[in-house]
Amino acid sequence: MKAVVYQGPYDVQVTDVEDPRVEAPTDVIVRITTTAICGSDLHMYEGRTGAESGLVFGHENMGIVEEVGSGVTSIRKGDRVCMPFNVACGFCTNCLAGKTAFCLTVNPGFGGGAYGYVSMGPYRGGQAEYLRVPFADFNCLPLPAGTEHENDFAMLADIFPTGYHGAAMAQVSPGDTVAVYGAGPVGLMAAYSSLLRGASKVFVVDKVADRLRLAEEIGAVPVDFSAGDPVEAIKEGTGGHGTDKGIDAVGYQATVSAGEEQPAVVLNQLIHTVRATGRIGTVGLYLPSDPGAPSPEAAEGRLLIDIGTFFERGLTMGTGQADVKAYNRQLRDLIIEGRATPSFVVSKELPLTEAPDAYARFDKREEGYSKVVLRPRDLAGV
Ligand SMILES: NC(=O)c1ccc[n+]([C@@H]2O[C@H](COP(=O)([O-])OP(=O)(O)OC[C@H]3O[C@@H](n4cnc5c(N)ncnc54)[C@H](O)[C@@H]3O)[C@@H](O)[C@H]2O)c1
Ligand SMILES: [Zn+2]
Ligand SMILES: [Zn+2]
Repeated sequence: MKAVVYQGPYDVQVTDVEDPRVEAPTDVIVRITTTAICGSDLHMYEGRTGAESGLVFGHENMGIVEEVGSGVTSIRKGDRVCMPFNVACGFCTNCLAGKTAFCLTVNPGFGGGAYGYVSMGPYRGGQAEYLRVPFADFNCLPLPAGTEHENDFAMLADIFPTGYHGAAMAQVSPGDTVAVYGAGPVGLMAAYSSLLRGASKVFVVDKVADRLRLAEEIGAVPVDFSAGDPVEAIKEGTGGHGTDKGIDAVGYQATVSAGEEQPAVVLNQLIHTVRATGRIGTVGLYLPSDPGAPSPEAAEGRLLIDIGTFFERGLTMGTGQADVKAYNRQLRDLIIEGRATPSFVVSKELPLTEAPDAYARFDKREEGYSKVVLRPRDLAGV
């Protein structure tokens, strides 16, 4: 089958790889209908992780079940399903507690597994024609048959639940003011989720114009950090107090307005943006090792954080990969009932074969490439 394979920094190619097969009775094979490129893929694409060549990318996957292992009970051939980016078992201590991003079974010795991601276990990605899904009863979210809401449902694999997780970790509640740093797809979903949870005012900080425009379209207040200090702008917009809650949807590749990377800049801005005793949800990625870091400390994941101010203000912060399974059924039902349309972030729908060009353009934050979905074949033929 055809798959998007990492060759080395700034180089992915669509090449032929072996078809996946049922390896355990609890597996299914899914024929991919839609798979998305994520900001998380870019960390690998840019050579900013330990990813090795040969890795098949793709952790945001949905499709039609093609083959079913003998031990699978709830999923049938022909079912339309979406898979959380986390691979999880469903029976370990963390899975039982709803913390499926930290499954103890699927990637022993590490906190959790994922498809097509460095360090996250032996699970091939779904930017391909087919995908093997382990523990399929647990990892497949059933969807209504047909092709309706395809792009909305595709967002259930990662960014919609991840944005929601940021808002949940920050405990965004009705009436809250919220500052979201980053207007990439994850930041936009965090803002959208905060509004779904009843926030009164949501600020979204970025410097990419078309991303800020989308933030404004969903009812958030755009803050351009290239036009001035975002902390000051948000303080001004909240009567000098700062917001009740904050969300980091940028991560360790955060930049200052001139473009230079400063891995701790967003965390520190959040510490100064959120009012005393407020809460921060950090879904932007931080890693214990970064081969391209701007300093030797950052290369080992050690950042200079304003812990003094953080403590003095009595702040609380949640971190980590999103437990997609904790939210995906509920968010799916909001889509089905017409109360959420996360596909507003999708800016491009392309055949799988165009992945190399799409990666290059998305990596440059080119207009129109903020969220790319790939199709191994035309949806009409599905
Ligand atoms: N925790 C999880 O489960 C999870 C899941 C998916 C993605 N992520 C992570 O979330 C982050 C965002 O993902 P994405 O797909 O939206 O990526 P993206 O790269 O498209 O978006 C990041 C945005 O941050 C902006 N930015 C950079 N520096 C900034 C600053 N100082 N202030 C404000 N904005 C700034 C960039 O202009 C860009 O628009 C990535 O780190 C990704 O790895 C985490
Ligand atoms: Zn993703
Ligand atoms: Zn588990």
